[in-house]
Amino acid sequence: MNIKLLKRAAAVLLTAILCLALASCADSTGGKTMIGIAMPTKSVQRWERDGENIKKGLEDAGYSTMVEFANDDTALQVSQLENMINRGCKAIIVAAIDSVSLSTVLEQAKAKGIYIISYDRLLTDTQNVDFYVTFDNKKVGTEMAQFVSDKLDLPNATGPFNLEISSGPPSDNNAGIIYSGMMEILQQYIDSGKLVIPSGQVTAAETAIDNWELANSQTRMENLLNGFYTDKKINVAICANDTIGRGAANAILAAGYTPGSADYPIITGQDCEIATIQYIIDGKQSMSIFKDTRTLGSRAIEATIALLDGKTPTSNGVSNNKVFDVPTYNCELVAVTKDNYKSVLIDSGYYTEEDLK
Ligand code: BGC
Repeated sequence: MNIKLLKRAAAVLLTAILCLALASCADSTGGKTMIGIAMPTKSVQRWERDGENIKKGLEDAGYSTMVEFANDDTALQVSQLENMINRGCKAIIVAAIDSVSLSTVLEQAKAKGIYIISYDRLLTDTQNVDFYVTFDNKKVGTEMAQFVSDKLDLPNATGPFNLEISSGPPSDNNAGIIYSGMMEILQQYIDSGKLVIPSGQVTAAETAIDNWELANSQTRMENLLNGFYTDKKINVAICANDTIGRGAANAILAAGYTPGSADYPIITGQDCEIATIQYIIDGKQSMSIFKDTRTLGSRAIEATIALLDGKTPTSNGVSNNKVFDVPTYNCELVAVTKDNYKSVLIDSGYYTEEDLK
């Protein structure tokens, strides 16, 4: 065999190997379009269900998926997104831990024409986001504060009532919005002295709970009770979500407050986590907010498919992300107490009776 023939044979062989390799790549996704689903953590109950719902919905619609949870670690979330880009995802649905830390990887995704769907938490400070699906976070805050106002009859009562605020971390865009919703109702009573904050910790930054973590909330509330409540009672712990709410409740219980008694404080939350519903039934937490993540997931799926098909997803508003008005779909939410949890959560099929046992 001469050199020329040898070279040709080698080229043919190389082409055959490349074809096989490509075919096996396509096989790993079954030739389907792949979508990345990047969730922040499993330490808050909802995200696992969010991830599972979206995965199932997309797979039922004929797509393949890659689902990742980032353990509240921003660097890990960046590398998970890089991996989604490298594996050939055509769209990425992302609930950011810290939007700012994603700006470079979002640029890389956009450069490859990948659609970015911001999930629950707005991707800020970037132009590289195509659509946003969420709940009305301002309303999360106003619903919590309205509940407090109604319970204490703030417009008519003389007070003063002792209040402590526990917010989400500033790295999550939702935290500040929820805080502003709370303050829209509470600020006037703080200003008039009907609500007193013995710790003096008022701003979103001063009241932030790192990573929305139960243990961090519990420790902060223990410190507040030991530092500022040796001679007085806490009447309200307004808490930005259920993990923070249960953390505060644990500290309050450990300090000797009895659920059901007149001096047990009002404690708020959101997400209707299973553990929290038990706290509500037991009188340890007063309310939560139900955000039907099945609806949010469906909206995310619908938007992703529309974008991939070159269509405009259905929106019902916009959200300014400091760079532009991102087309947004806002989903409904509802306040939940001991009185309505069954009709809201069980009748809707969100939980079974078994889940709540
Ligand atoms: C979500 C909440 C959740 C919190 C902590 C927020 O961005 O809107 O539902 O409780 O993150 O994970």
